[in-house]
Amino acid sequence: MKNNITEILEELTLKEKASMFSGGDFWQTETIERLSIPAIFLVDGPHGVRNVVDRHHTDPAKKATCFPTAVNLAASWDLSLIEKVAEALAEESKCLGVDVLLGPGINMKRSPLGGRNFEYFSEDPFLTAELAIKFINTVQRKGIGTSLKHYIANNQEYKRFSIDAQIDERPLREIYLSAFEKIVKKANPWTIMAAYNQVNGDFATESSYLLKKILRNEWGYKNLVVSDWRAVHNRVEALKAGLDLEMPGSVPINDQKILDAVESGELIKEKVDQSIKRQLDLILKSQSTKKENIDLPIEKHHQLSKEIASETIVLLKNQGKLLPLTKERLDDTKSMLVVGELAKKIRYQGIGSSQVNPTKLDTHYKALKDKFDKQLEVDYAEGYKSNDKLEENENLKQKALSTAKNKDYVIVYAGLPDKVEAEGYDRENIKLPKEQNELIKELTEINSNVIVVLNNGSAVDLREWIDKVSAVIEAGLPGQAGALALADIISGEVNPSAKLTESYPLKLEDNPSYLNFPGNNGIVRYGEGIYIGYRYYDKKKMEVLFPFGYGLSYTEFAYRKAEVPNHLEEGENLKIKVLIENTGLFKGKEIVQVYISQEKPRLDRPPKELKGFGKIELDPGEEGRLELELDYQELAYYHPEEGWVVESDYYKLMIGASSRDIKITEKIWVESSTIIKGLTKKSPFIDWLNDPFGHKAVKKVLTEEQIKEIEYHNSRPIYRLHFYSPDQVSLKNIEDILDVYQNL
Ligand code: BGC
Repeated sequence: MKNNITEILEELTLKEKASMFSGGDFWQTETIERLSIPAIFLVDGPHGVRNVVDRHHTDPAKKATCFPTAVNLAASWDLSLIEKVAEALAEESKCLGVDVLLGPGINMKRSPLGGRNFEYFSEDPFLTAELAIKFINTVQRKGIGTSLKHYIANNQEYKRFSIDAQIDERPLREIYLSAFEKIVKKANPWTIMAAYNQVNGDFATESSYLLKKILRNEWGYKNLVVSDWRAVHNRVEALKAGLDLEMPGSVPINDQKILDAVESGELIKEKVDQSIKRQLDLILKSQSTKKENIDLPIEKHHQLSKEIASETIVLLKNQGKLLPLTKERLDDTKSMLVVGELAKKIRYQGIGSSQVNPTKLDTHYKALKDKFDKQLEVDYAEGYKSNDKLEENENLKQKALSTAKNKDYVIVYAGLPDKVEAEGYDRENIKLPKEQNELIKELTEINSNVIVVLNNGSAVDLREWIDKVSAVIEAGLPGQAGALALADIISGEVNPSAKLTESYPLKLEDNPSYLNFPGNNGIVRYGEGIYIGYRYYDKKKMEVLFPFGYGLSYTEFAYRKAEVPNHLEEGENLKIKVLIENTGLFKGKEIVQVYISQEKPRLDRPPKELKGFGKIELDPGEEGRLELELDYQELAYYHPEEGWVVESDYYKLMIGASSRDIKITEKIWVESSTIIKGLTKKSPFIDWLNDPFGHKAVKKVLTEEQIKEIEYHNSRPIYRLHFYSPDQVSLKNIEDILDVYQNL
């Protein structure tokens, strides 16, 4: 293939071009043999390369390492870890001849019921963006493409091919689009995948508002937009809106429709060429990376998968510091009982297009036996089966109960059955299966050392037994070596450090989308607006089971102090230093989170918004300083008429161990000229005494006479009027100010 795109474009016939608008087969683009234009290979790959040769998915994919799923990766809050996974995925892609990985998936976890929550990072757009930027930059640096998906509002499975997500402008931009926006600007994915659903009345694949106005014109995205598989309805409209490649292929009817549209003048030739150019560019980029058909580094990546998994498992409860079961502690004990179908039939990933055929698979029972066998008797009882057979489950429970009586420790592996959490349908509730809840409750009545390990990809309701068990570990869906990582955590060889990236409500009904999820009559209304996840629970001051950002460690950390400037100039990044001390007995890692809130925004803002995070590893007794830098722009919110705005105001910085465990709060004044738009008739009066700049501002800009005039109009002394800062006032002309205040 030539490498001059203009020349290729001239040589391609219109018919050939039309054929390139849909794939050559299920996973490849069209080949044009005459010009030696090769097909490129796109496969799923958010947590492992899923090289499916068979288009009907009847054959398993070629084997590849199944790394922890997105829910786990996010819980690490660790960009260096994401980098390691992304490097490994790129390497495996090269071994398997893959050009573009169809991932990462970054939709927001609007409801815990969402069937694909395990494939997505978080309910928070800031965290999601940071993780995805690192992922994409790393994979692409290694010469493999990515497909950022699903653009946009693919937040449920119910009627996923057609549902119309009705979202107001502000939540659309601030919550659902904002991670996409940052990623486009900072990582420039080689492709973006347009979602199945509709958004405000248009299919995402055909929406010129989403594709043309926002993605191309506002954000400047120049690469290829691909449809989700079979998501195109009107090929010509989709192309006009900016969707380049329809997948899968081949769709001859649509090729013909494109030809007809060009002939009738509905589609201009430039539009066709522009799109083909993007595809040629993608092919050339892919061609420049050598794909060798070599064996995967199976053992190395299995170990890596374990290392990564161990950073993604969240300790939710550890009463009386029952865990870890270290060698020293086990000296006086003799026995451990491992309970649960899931201890042998491990759940390590979700079902659907992200499903990887693992190179190896460890199971929990074996991993625990290998770890503890020399010291303890490690027995097993199935306890329950994921089926509706009441009698069988009753017998299994009774057997487990009688075996558990005299054991020193009982470790129950609970979680959601495979079929409950899958692409294609949402969960019906957030409960664990009844037989598991009953088993756990009854075990706690006969044994006081019950540890529960959970295997699930989204929030679950644990109220039935959470107060009765000693310890709970949220293992998530930790990939093919997750069992080894868990055994390391239980034995204390690894100190857990991960934290939740999705709030666990007390009950499903508490979730802000409850009244509107999954919608009806083909419509789902995002009535909760910007208040999703912790933004809502905080606003409502609502108790939750586990808050966003929560996770325990075997050690403790003290937040000694934070160095924060008290004033930020416009455009200046916010630099924060936090001094942390490990005050416990184990070496450990702490994830530090920074939330902000604005004191007097013109539009309502959540009480907390995550804007920074970092991780620090400390030995017992060690003190360390974590340095964080927050982009000035992160202080912005989305104003439907004005776009992203940072307002001059006081901001609270809340530095803490979770969204509900704030250790240090600081106040900072932020300068911004945005206030020119903001100093409207609606601007509030704020007591001048709270505003160190107000007085200076007045003196700097206004004459004595003007001051008197303003005071007269407002029937109050000028020092009781609020000016945001001297600079901002100086930017306004005096008549404007007078006009504003006259009309207040
Ligand atoms: C999914 C995508 C996936 C594609 C190809 C679709 O059904 O929504 O996430 O990349 O299939 O497998």
